[in-house]
Amino acid sequence: MTKLLTAHFHEPRLHELETYRGLGGYEGLKKALAMGREQLMEEMKKSNLRGLGGAGFPAGMKWSTVTPEAKDPGPRYVVVNCDESEPGCFKDRVLVTRAPHALIEGLLIAMHAIDAKQGFIFVRGEYQVQYRILDKALAEARSAGLLGERSIDLMRGAGAYISGLDTALLETMEGKKAWPRQPPPFPTAKGLMGRPTVVNNVETLCMVPHVVLKGGDWFAALGTPKSGGTFLFSVSGHVAKPGVYEFPMGTPLKDIIAAAGGVKGGRKLKAVIPGGVSTPVMTAEELDTPMDFEGPRAQGSFLGAGGVIVLDETADMVMVAHNIERFLAHESCGQCTPCRQGSYWYERILERGLSGGGVAADLETLQRTGEDMTGKVICALGDTVGVVTRALMKKFPEDFKAKFPERRG
Ligand SMILES: Cc1cc2nc3c(=O)[nH]c(=O)nc-3n(C[C@H](O)[C@H](O)[C@H](O)COP(=O)(O)O)c2cc1C
Ligand code: SF4
Repeated sequence: MTKLLTAHFHEPRLHELETYRGLGGYEGLKKALAMGREQLMEEMKKSNLRGLGGAGFPAGMKWSTVTPEAKDPGPRYVVVNCDESEPGCFKDRVLVTRAPHALIEGLLIAMHAIDAKQGFIFVRGEYQVQYRILDKALAEARSAGLLGERSIDLMRGAGAYISGLDTALLETMEGKKAWPRQPPPFPTAKGLMGRPTVVNNVETLCMVPHVVLKGGDWFAALGTPKSGGTFLFSVSGHVAKPGVYEFPMGTPLKDIIAAAGGVKGGRKLKAVIPGGVSTPVMTAEELDTPMDFEGPRAQGSFLGAGGVIVLDETADMVMVAHNIERFLAHESCGQCTPCRQGSYWYERILERGLSGGGVAADLETLQRTGEDMTGKVICALGDTVGVVTRALMKKFPEDFKAKFPERRG
């Protein structure tokens, strides 16, 4: 099975420039610099490379919507989103630790594509080891002359989930509170310091040298008609071998779980959160779902950032819901009342169920509160509040009835 990003992970010194180059690293950059920008954009569009940070926006399309230099001369930026704070996702951490030069190469190609002289890598605050690895790799690339006239700076996040959202991340970089902006304008027109900016996820950019080297058609053919290439799944929860597994887009969910050793301790699988905690749960009957940007959607969920969390038969779904809503309540930036208040009440009501005081009417409140919030908030965090809980209520009603009974005896 074709592996792109993890193919050389067995090399102990892959993080060093010499090893990376010895394996063909930076050849993609060389080829991209020799290509016209239009051809590069064409290959990117043909590749069907989707944004792998969760939203799945096609990378080639994003790059080509950057306001052209002719219309708006002046600085433009590429920002790498290495904030990775979605619970259940840890693939960017692994990529940066093992192959930092793959990210730097992808970033340099993106900078060339949109004619940016300045790039940034925004690193999650807790990723201190990864920050040091990137710092060292950047110094190596700089002294080898690989950056040319371009400059790349590292920035550290302060540990907020919301700063992973692109517009909040840009606010943070400008020294402000991580409050999401209400688009339009989108960052490609008005991003960092009001200038055209591409924000891309670590994994998206690591894929770019492969698109350039082997061509957009080749890359697209690895995946499904609308999701090209391969994808890194972070598999955790009740599995025997948690870890990061690379598979072609469209691989059935059951194969990904099997690669992680299946459910631990011979227990039965109850449910799977397919893409990180902001994606609705899927059941044991849905394991044939092809894991690309379209497959989980057909089951009312999302591929997200590929954080597959496996839950076995011992999992209590009210506890799972409470855990997720407590996280969202904690991480809501508080800018919109429905998100700030709604997430708080979800947490409180679920807590009441867990502590033995729940009643059936609470379930109606949870249902209504969530529905009332939809579309009334600025960003996707607010739109997520209650979504996972409502999916759990629908797919596992018995768990909820037990904690929120009609009558208390
Ligand atoms: C609440 C929230 C948190 C997010 N966190 C991240 C993150 O940690 N890393 C990431 O790459 N994208 C994250 N995203 C998605 C980004 O807003 C953006 O779509 C992405 O960085 C764009 O890169 P891509 O097109 O390469 O995926 C988050 C989105 C939301 C709504
Ligand atoms: S939806 Fe929530 S997290 Fe997003 S801007 Fe509004 S309050 Fe902040």
